[in-house]
Amino acid sequence: MSFEKTNIALSGFMGTGKTTVAKIIAQKTKKLFYDTDAEIEKKFAMEIKEIFEKFGEEKFRQAEFETIKEISLLKEIVISLGGGAVLNLTNIENLKKHSLIVNLKADPQIIYERVKGNSDRPILRSAYPSLEKIQQLLESRQPFYDNCDFAIDVSKLSPQEAAAQILKRIPNHP
Ligand code: S3P
Repeated sequence: MSFEKTNIALSGFMGTGKTTVAKIIAQKTKKLFYDTDAEIEKKFAMEIKEIFEKFGEEKFRQAEFETIKEISLLKEIVISLGGGAVLNLTNIENLKKHSLIVNLKADPQIIYERVKGNSDRPILRSAYPSLEKIQQLLESRQPFYDNCDFAIDVSKLSPQEAAAQILKRIPNHP
């Protein structure tokens, strides 16, 4: 009982729909929704992109680490993680205390279509992220995403379908 995993945390590459799917799961399970990026933005009172520009990635990762440490203590919540959160193994350790971590995966081409017109993601560096950059990053991050409890391929799923598939895989959830 004391070690019960009452939380669901969604990991996965940028553009896989973590936030949308996590919100649906939170609504269906009547749990509170948390988004690590949104929490960091609140702390700094600025957008992620500005945090990277003003303070650099290291400071962002430190804030992400602290935020995950705090959120990991909560119970009965659904968490949407930033796409790089699982690169820090201590983040995974902290999360696993109360959370089942699900990795949302998608084909690089689909990710590319979703993020290509968007310049809000500093990790993809430019206003026009390339398919090659996405493929390369996905490949280098795969071993970290593999540390999640299980993965769902969302390439052909709507957010509703992805949420339903995740909940089907989790015992004791409707
Ligand atoms: C990042 C992903 C972003 C955000 C930050 C870094 C990453 O979150 O945390 O820009 O390293 O993949 P999303 O995955 O929600 O875009």
